[in-house]
Amino acid sequence: MRHWLEIFYRTSAGTLLRRRELNQDDGKKRAALAALTHVEDGMALGVGTGSTVDFFIDALAERPHRKLRLVSSSERSTERLGRLGLDVTELSAVGDVDLYVDGADEATQHLHLIKGGGGALTREKIVAGAARKFICIVDDSKLVGRLGKFPLPVEVIPMARSFVARQLVKAGGQPVWRQDFVTDNGNQIIDVRNLDISNPVEMETRINQIPGVVTVGLFAHRGADLLLVGSAEGVEIMT
Ligand code: 5RP
Repeated sequence: MRHWLEIFYRTSAGTLLRRRELNQDDGKKRAALAALTHVEDGMALGVGTGSTVDFFIDALAERPHRKLRLVSSSERSTERLGRLGLDVTELSAVGDVDLYVDGADEATQHLHLIKGGGGALTREKIVAGAARKFICIVDDSKLVGRLGKFPLPVEVIPMARSFVARQLVKAGGQPVWRQDFVTDNGNQIIDVRNLDISNPVEMETRINQIPGVVTVGLFAHRGADLLLVGSAEGVEIMT
């Protein structure tokens, strides 16, 4: 990998980016196809959000299962599922979810995650919480030793945005309002840089306790049960 990075740096940044995206997509697709092997007829299946999950949705539509009940974590995924002829059921009508499949912006070997790059963190956390099993699918660029290089998304009630931002500064972060973005729940997102997330469980608890926070995109209390890491070489399984 390092080899082709060096080669493409010497040509042009644009070419490098395209090559890297191709490589990443390969890993995403492999992880998504690996997750599909865990889907069984009759399951209540939670479907996450993002470009990695898009591969999962497309593969699911190509190989339909009988009597699946699908619960979606976003309007975006609901729309894609519907376009491919897959109907979605309300979580309240399904009860517990047998399996939840979703991507992540960062993941550790302890199966702690940062999620919410696509802004769907709240519904994702709800479906993950309702799931007996949560399989996270990522390409290998998402695997990190410590969470926090990716800005941590926090969904907030609009009137609380500035107050929450000040509390996040006290927690050591640099909050940035994700402007021109409204979540599926009508709320706003603050992306927080430079937080020390050496203890993801503690940080999740701390941020969740700030009044006005709807959800923090740390998935540590309820991390993944299985992490499937796709790369050009294959799929690594982490438990
Ligand atoms: C959306 C998410 C996504 O899972 C996360 O952003 C990863 O997305 P992608 O698969 O496109 O890299 O949390 O809210």
